[in-house]
Amino acid sequence: MTHRLLFLGPPGAGKGTQAQRLSEQLQLLHLSTGDLLRAEIRASSDLGRQVEAVMSKGELVSDALVLAIVGERLKTNDGGWLLDGFPRNLSQAEALDCLLKDLGQPLQHVLLMELDDETLVTRLLNRGRTDDTEEVIRHRLQVYRDQTAPLIQHYADRGVLTRIPSQGSVEEVASAVEEALGGTA
Ligand code: AP5
Repeated sequence: MTHRLLFLGPPGAGKGTQAQRLSEQLQLLHLSTGDLLRAEIRASSDLGRQVEAVMSKGELVSDALVLAIVGERLKTNDGGWLLDGFPRNLSQAEALDCLLKDLGQPLQHVLLMELDDETLVTRLLNRGRTDDTEEVIRHRLQVYRDQTAPLIQHYADRGVLTRIPSQGSVEEVASAVEEALGGTA
């Protein structure tokens, strides 16, 4: 069975952890816009330097750039896929709706990972990525609330949203993900 799904949720909820695990298990293309943008930074291109300045503040990179990154990869993929960290605002979600309509690949599941703020902050401070300082984490949480959280209603209206309580261990959360996918994972 082909799976086309995305993980939604605040920074530190475990999207990347579960996305990596599930994509390996189901042989899906895993597209993490955060990882793809960090690869641009490592390449030290002009674009990478611009991206770094935005990411280090916890702001969102331009819609046009992330859409180009995701669109190019989905158009050249003929199997299932899993999106992690994209879309991040309503304009990206609407652009994704159009792209998937053109490709004839409807989205099947949106898994919303839910976790309280203090656990998120603790997990990210322990991880220690360059954008994991307390000030930047709290700003990313605010950006999530302002720009990304409206996507919850967007996908609930389409009947594809499942909430995943994400405070348990990695294995417990993986079981909840599997259950949400109807035991197909
Ligand atoms: P991105 O890389 O997407 O970061 P994020 O959304 O802030 O998400 P995180 O990676 O911080 O958290 P996660 O939910 O993936 O959790 P993880 O599994 O790593 O984006 C970074 C930046 O890139 C953005 O701020 C923006 O600037 C830019 N960007 C990216 N996409 C964009 C877009 N579409 N448009 C515009 N800009 C964009 O887990 C976190 C930690 O917790 C890890 O250490 C992990 O080991 C641990 N952990 C995970 N699960 C558990 C568990 N169950 N129990 C205990 N610990 C756990």
